[in-house]
Amino acid sequence: MLRLALFACFATAKAYIWPEPQLDALELFRWEPDKSGLLGLIQPCNFFLPGGSSTGRSDVSDWIRTAYHDMATHNVTDGTGGMDASIRFAEEQARPEDVGDGFQNTVSSLIKHATRYISMADVLTVGAMVAIENCGGPELAFRGGRIDAVAPNKPGVPEPQQDLDSHISAFARQGFTKTDMIGLVACGHTFGGVQHAAFPDSVPELNDPNNTQSVSHFDSTFVTFDNNIATEYISGTTKNPLVVGLNDTTNSDKRIFASDGNATMQSFAKSADHFSLTCADLFARMFNTVPRGVQLTEVITPLPIKPDNLKFDLAIDGKTIDFSGQVRFWDPPANKTQKVRMLWDDRVNGTNNATLISSGVSPSGVRHTVAWYDTPLLTLQSSAGITNMRFVVDGKLEDQGGVGFAIQDDLIWSKSSCVYTNTSITSGRFEIAVRNTLNPTRVFLEQASKDNISRPIIVEFDLARVSPPAAKPVYNLWSAIVNNTFTAFTIGAEIDGVKVTRNDPRSVEGFASCTGLS
Ligand code: HEM
Ligand SMILES: *[C@@H]1O[C@H](CO)[C@@H](O)[C@H](O)[C@H]1NC(C)=O
Ligand SMILES: *[C@@H]1O[C@H](CO)[C@@H](O)[C@H](O)[C@H]1NC(C)=O
Ligand SMILES: *[C@@H]1O[C@H](CO)[C@@H](O)[C@H](O)[C@H]1NC(C)=O
Ligand SMILES: *[C@@H]1O[C@H](CO)[C@@H](O)[C@H](O)[C@H]1NC(C)=O
Ligand SMILES: *[C@@H]1O[C@H](CO)[C@@H](O)[C@H](O)[C@H]1NC(C)=O
Ligand SMILES: *[C@@H]1O[C@H](CO)[C@@H](O)[C@H](O)[C@H]1NC(C)=O
Ligand SMILES: *[C@@H]1O[C@H](CO)[C@@H](O)[C@H](O)[C@H]1NC(C)=O
Ligand SMILES: *[C@@H]1O[C@H](CO)[C@@H](O)[C@H](O)[C@H]1NC(C)=O
Ligand SMILES: *[C@@H]1O[C@H](CO)[C@@H](O)[C@H](O)[C@H]1NC(C)=O
Ligand SMILES: *[C@@H]1O[C@H](CO)[C@@H](O)[C@H](O)[C@H]1NC(C)=O
Repeated sequence: MLRLALFACFATAKAYIWPEPQLDALELFRWEPDKSGLLGLIQPCNFFLPGGSSTGRSDVSDWIRTAYHDMATHNVTDGTGGMDASIRFAEEQARPEDVGDGFQNTVSSLIKHATRYISMADVLTVGAMVAIENCGGPELAFRGGRIDAVAPNKPGVPEPQQDLDSHISAFARQGFTKTDMIGLVACGHTFGGVQHAAFPDSVPELNDPNNTQSVSHFDSTFVTFDNNIATEYISGTTKNPLVVGLNDTTNSDKRIFASDGNATMQSFAKSADHFSLTCADLFARMFNTVPRGVQLTEVITPLPIKPDNLKFDLAIDGKTIDFSGQVRFWDPPANKTQKVRMLWDDRVNGTNNATLISSGVSPSGVRHTVAWYDTPLLTLQSSAGITNMRFVVDGKLEDQGGVGFAIQDDLIWSKSSCVYTNTSITSGRFEIAVRNTLNPTRVFLEQASKDNISRPIIVEFDLARVSPPAAKPVYNLWSAIVNNTFTAFTIGAEIDGVKVTRNDPRSVEGFASCTGLS
């Protein structure tokens, strides 16, 4: 019931038109968290990477608290701070307001997933969203496009010993009213608790084999999103260490929850759905609090039909292209294999078609499923190539509202690419085929790397144009020997001063051995 209501509210968000490299990457990272490995770190919800499931701590709690502390430096007046992954800097983590190792744990689990299209701040956002959803929380609307800070922000995270007025003004500086503050604290503190190691004076050592890090939890269901944080508070049974702690100075939740005469907490205790809807809104606002000037994307909803993993290889004689790929169908009809035909346009014969092969249905994320279909391995004439495709699904045409799925076969791998297996380092002869309708000034391999403040960057390896044979080929080859320990290369080119990229990554295993190739 609740899920339907939430989905309806962002079902109005318009799906984008595929392909769109950044949105494609963000959509995948947000909606297929099993693929990136994110879900594996939070299932079950009490899993804690540095120590298993009986520490009393949990990755989900760390990830959610990290997102809040990253955001909490925001100043609405001057637009500084916000969700920008500044929490990754050791200097921020060393501040008293960021006590504990939860930030470092989160950063080391998550930020390696950042890419040229997905900033570290987007990764921290998706991590916290998936944590909430995976552990009983509402489905959250995701916008991407956060930009990573280049230096720590000014301090500004609230601390438990501060008084109510300081907390009200800290939340106001972050862009939240007093009512928002009560809500956001309750929404966050439905997870986790206070650790003895971080607050030795406020919470005791527990000597509990099921809670080896002595965490005094905020509610009785500390790895589940639910309104027990409110019901236990209102009924007077709460053990929340920031409400019933012996030292009243650090009872910040007590002061915050009672700051409107308990009205907000009572409304949460009365209705789990109201709590969930309020948190969905407040969490989204928290994640979307970004430094001034950062332009977030529209809400990214899963594409109903999404081609993925398209691969092109020009044959060594240059006459044909091997083409293959997959197509993802989001939330397909249950217990029914759809019949899918792919239609595609080429430059010569017009429209062709082939039947796609179902390769199974699997869960995606927390509450969705995907059906995957493979194209057969198609051998296309180079002169024909492929320009656009559409799908006929159980008789119904799917073509993104008439525009189809545009395909780029103009910068592709050549099967003459190969790796040397006779050297101690990985090295290879890499050859890229460029359709003769393109006239690039540069063609290069792209390799993902990080700069000295962990931001994703692309390192380029230039290739040189190979002199074409006498007859004008459909594709011209660019080639270079590259010595490099690489994980994967994508293809880049510069055309009229503009860089373009083709997302057909290849790693060592994807290439033939040079021994035996001419
Ligand atoms: C006045 C505002 C707040 C204060 C004073 C406060 C204080 C604290 C304290 C002292 C801890 C214990 C940390 C530790 O032992 O390592 C904690 C944990 C936590 N806080 Fe807050 N908090 C506030 C607001 C929020 C908000 C707005 C959120 C999220 C929306 C949040 C999410 C969390 C989570 C998930 C934990 C558990 C961490 C874990 O168990 O590892 N907090 N908070
Ligand atoms: C927020 O920014 C304004 C404008 O620069 C500044 O006057 C104010 O002191 C800042 N607030 C805090 C808490 O730093
Ligand atoms: C620890 O958890 C297990 C399984 O939930 C339970 O059987 C056991 O009694 C718990 N031990 C303590 C000391 O709470
Ligand atoms: C209570 O906590 C405050 C803030 O951490 C501290 O300054 C004070 O000494 C504590 N009081 C007692 C009695 O422990
Ligand atoms: C709010 O609720 C708490 C917990 O039941 C209670 O101790 C407190 O007196 C209430 N405060 C107000 C202002 O009603
Ligand atoms: C699909 O099949 C499963 C197991 O066979 C069954 O439990 C489920 O109710 C079916 N769903 C629908 C919509 O028919
Ligand atoms: C698919 O191609 C075959 C010929 O290869 C043609 O007879 C058939 O009509 C095509 N089907 C569609 C749906 O275009
Ligand atoms: C055109 O289609 C025919 C029949 O499917 C095929 O044999 C031929 O190779 C195609 N020509 C090109 C240039 O793709
Ligand atoms: C990072 O590299 C830039 C130049 O690319 C340099 O100016 C800066 O000082 C370096 N920062 C650190 C922390 O090493
Ligand atoms: C690549 O490495 C091999 C073996 O170390 C070396 O012989 C060769 O000169 C290197 N090639 C280039 C282009 O650096
Ligand atoms: C590796 O093999 C290639 C050709 O197969 C040859 O050109 C090259 O010299 C060899 N490199 C080494 C280091 O043996």
